[in-house]
Amino acid sequence: MDKLLIQGGIPLRGRVKARGSKNASLPIIAAALISAEPLVIEGVPDLLDVRTMIAVLESLGAAVSYSPEQELVRIAATKPPGLEPPPCLVRQMRASFLVLGPLLARNGKARLSLPGGCAIGTRPVDLHLKGLTAMGARFTMDNGYIEGETRGLEGARIYLDYPSVGATENILMAATLARGTTVLENAATEPEIVDLANFLNSMGARVSGAGTTTIRIEGVVELGGARYNVIPDRIEAGTLLLAGAITGGDITVENVLPDHLKSLLAKMKEAGATVEEVAPSAIRVRRCGQLVGVDLKTLPYPGFPTDLQPQFMAMLAISRGTSMVTETVFENRFRHVAPLLSMGAQIQVEGHHAIVQGRRYLTGAPVSASDLRAAAALLLAALAARGVTEISEVVHLWRGYSGIEERLKSVGARIQHLKREPYPSLQTGG
Ligand code: UD1
Repeated sequence: MDKLLIQGGIPLRGRVKARGSKNASLPIIAAALISAEPLVIEGVPDLLDVRTMIAVLESLGAAVSYSPEQELVRIAATKPPGLEPPPCLVRQMRASFLVLGPLLARNGKARLSLPGGCAIGTRPVDLHLKGLTAMGARFTMDNGYIEGETRGLEGARIYLDYPSVGATENILMAATLARGTTVLENAATEPEIVDLANFLNSMGARVSGAGTTTIRIEGVVELGGARYNVIPDRIEAGTLLLAGAITGGDITVENVLPDHLKSLLAKMKEAGATVEEVAPSAIRVRRCGQLVGVDLKTLPYPGFPTDLQPQFMAMLAISRGTSMVTETVFENRFRHVAPLLSMGAQIQVEGHHAIVQGRRYLTGAPVSASDLRAAAALLLAALAARGVTEISEVVHLWRGYSGIEERLKSVGARIQHLKREPYPSLQTGG
């Protein structure tokens, strides 16, 4: 099992670059199934989740080549794709469910096992199915599988009971080839939705209103080829900015769109960090002295992102005073609390709330990561803690942060990656 050993207490200083967005890359790669023409997608980070999505597309018959050095993916789903990606891939990652909309649009049929992903709640897919059903798809469930079928999707007026990111993406992708116009209300407004819509439009789709709560999609007969560059990863950029603040350092994060991080930057300033936009796509963060506790509530965009809540809580654990963190997006997203407690944090969880009593410092300890963003929170806590922290189950980190340890080392972090020992080979007698 891979582990990270981190010597904490070193203020990070220097410049570091955020990579392309994981959560934009995944639906964009899935959307490639809608077109028979070649697509080139740039700025795709080398992550476990990206590799899984590529494997899903390959399993469906698409020709995919990925150059991690160039962060470039080429996809050609020339023939109509298969119907059923292997369940082992779908269960590895919830985002695999994003092939449902594209498969229904292109094939009129799909069979998927129920998705997996981070252990942060039940994460149902009812809103995806409700929207696609309104467009004329029929679903049956049997033995952990969902089978969808349609004789041709029809444009519809759909109101989402909750602005689910994944449901918005699946419906948006399916609607590109539907007959007539789809109007999606109470849609998610995350920047990754806008990026997906821009990608689809570059392929010839007719999507307007992405980034607002009402998206309008006029169906077209087919989509063509395109070359597209994904947006920078706002969650990774936010994590790096928090690394600067939690260590009392001075970090400039490049390749970041400040508009996508307004809620985080406001909260960091409220906590006493000095945050400046030093260029249109670079943010510098510094802190002198102890930060102060602030209250925080996660919400759909443009509210505070749930994907940065664990990392921010790590910072609050060493901020003066009491903070209240309220998680409204996922029902089980406090799994980072127990390991933070073993590092000396004082946090009490009551339902959707966590009350954090700031300490002057955390202490290095052996801890285990339970999911992607919990792993990021432990990494930040470890960078700030006194002594050495050993993080196990670090595989979760590779799902969302590409080469993060090297980039943190380049700004002064002391991190050692202990790779899994291969099993000793058996001596066979001759
Ligand atoms: C996406 C992101 C994830 C982020 C989340 C919220 C990707 C690959 N993942 O996940 O990193 O944390 O948005 O910003 O982009 N829900 C339902 N029914 C549904 C769908 C969702 O009840 O049909 C609930 C979920 O259980 C959850 C909430 O809605 O409690 C938000 O989920 P959703 O916005 O769909 O998140 P994901 O698309 O899974």
